[in-house]
Amino acid sequence: MTSYEIRSMVERDIPQIAQIEKAVFNAPWSEAAFRSELHDNAMALYLVLTDDRQPDEVLGYCGLWKIFDEGHITNIAVRPEHQGKKLGKMLLHAMINWAWSNEMKHVTLEVRVGNDRAITLYKNTGFVEAGVRPGYYDAGREDALIMWLHRDEPDSDGRRHEAKKGGCIDV
Ligand SMILES: CC(C)(COP(=O)(O)OP(=O)(O)OC[C@H]1O[C@@H](n2cnc3c(N)ncnc32)[C@H](O)[C@@H]1OP(=O)(O)O)[C@@H](O)C(=O)NCCC(=O)NCCS
Repeated sequence: MTSYEIRSMVERDIPQIAQIEKAVFNAPWSEAAFRSELHDNAMALYLVLTDDRQPDEVLGYCGLWKIFDEGHITNIAVRPEHQGKKLGKMLLHAMINWAWSNEMKHVTLEVRVGNDRAITLYKNTGFVEAGVRPGYYDAGREDALIMWLHRDEPDSDGRRHEAKKGGCIDV
């Protein structure tokens, strides 16, 4: 059985992360952007997910900016050949756990209106739609959905969101 680990991003992860960005996003962040996030942005946390078969291979990552009591997800991605195996879900839940453990009460993100897999992931995690940014992506061609998750608001089953299981996290 494969065992997964989620830990903080370190310098040597950055080339692989930039490679995944290029594979999955139309406007990928550069290596320099991630380096700046790691070294210069005290409000940022980036988590990476690996497995025990190839511990040096980054399978996915997720970033968040802490702004007062809000967490803003900057990006989340899984290597294309590993998508659909619940790794995105593990990463997102780990990040939310970290946010709740670090005095945040709300987590927000933007997502393309056509990104069905990501929207399913967010809705199943408890995020709700809060508005649209018209023409946010690709020079005005695609809208962004704004979504929020609120720590103290029970979900439809009456559970609060602090109990999400995030896998092995070492941050
Ligand atoms: C979005 C992304 C991070 C999700 O990670 P993943 O590991 O592929 O997704 P998961 O396997 O965790 O599945 C997430 C959910 O989507 C659902 N799903 C899978 N394929 C789907 C599809 N084609 N359409 C709708 N929902 C789908 C799964 O059933 C799962 O729902 P669950 O919570 O009920 O289990 C990943 O696909 C990715 O990197 N995409 C490209 C980058 C991207 O779009 N990032 C998001 C930017 S906002």
